[in-house]
Amino acid sequence: MGSAAAPVRQLDPHTVAELRSAAEKILAAFGTSAASPALLEHVARTAGAFSDTLRHHCRPVDTDDGLFVLRGLDVDDEAVGPTPEGWATAGDSGAGALYDLTLLLLATVMGNPIAWEGQQDGRFVHNIVPAPGHETAQTGASSAVLLSPHTEDAFHPGRAHLLMLGCVRNHDHIATTAAGIRKTRLSDQDIETLARPVLPILPDDAYAEAQGYTDQLPPAVPALFPAEDGTTLRFDPAYTPVDRADATYRAAYRRLEAELARVSVSVSLAPGEVLVVDNDLVVHGRVPFRARYDGTDRWLKRASVRVPGRRTRPPAEADEHGYGQAALEAHAS
Ligand SMILES: [Fe+2]
Repeated sequence: MGSAAAPVRQLDPHTVAELRSAAEKILAAFGTSAASPALLEHVARTAGAFSDTLRHHCRPVDTDDGLFVLRGLDVDDEAVGPTPEGWATAGDSGAGALYDLTLLLLATVMGNPIAWEGQQDGRFVHNIVPAPGHETAQTGASSAVLLSPHTEDAFHPGRAHLLMLGCVRNHDHIATTAAGIRKTRLSDQDIETLARPVLPILPDDAYAEAQGYTDQLPPAVPALFPAEDGTTLRFDPAYTPVDRADATYRAAYRRLEAELARVSVSVSLAPGEVLVVDNDLVVHGRVPFRARYDGTDRWLKRASVRVPGRRTRPPAEADEHGYGQAALEAHAS
């Protein structure tokens, strides 16, 4: 299907040059994309001085699709080197780091990038690559199974408002799937049912420490929220104990799942394309593929962004414990 299914924002050459020169300067000054307080401050200052044109390309998601693709960045396939066999060996120097910094700059224009102490060593830009031994996991390290549609970090109240997936390599045109809640048709009764806090969403396998959290009970959370501007969702069926709910709720949940499947679009990212997903409007996933582990596998970079002042979530979320995990914000808010 290609990314034809998603609205595209084509970056003009001047904006691409502006971004590249900013990323190059930061890499020259720090020699790494690993985020130190000094580097993050430098990134914020640089992003604050970007042109209005660049800023306009990064404006909020403005269609019911709940997502867009930024096109026009280039990635030098040779210079980035082979796809690593796991995030830990991805490294943070060279051409890969230049892309990390580009994403971090874009993320900073859109809002406040976040990291998790418990994920990928607290990095602000994650590497998503298939990892040997994780083929059937429900995390980004999987390959052989369908990664079912989910809200990113759904278990946590500090989760991103925006999810950015930047493509480094995708020779096999493996599709990311995305389904927007504003495209679905559900009865008022189902929406009402699913807006009740009935079931918890448990931490996913990327958060080993959070999975061992036993201090307090998992909070029940609503799957849907009727926000002022329209319905938003918080949805991760692979980590939701749906069996615990009564029959009415289970049936409504299955109808939501079926509607999301019906409206799902496939986005096959090309190198340099950045998919930006509104994490309150859209669930994302990935089709199964066969990993080769020969350095040519699909390689994405992921950044998560909080947008201050949004009213897309129930206020009660603020009291959730987040299973002992804390989101680290790049910039004091
Ligand atoms: Fe995800």
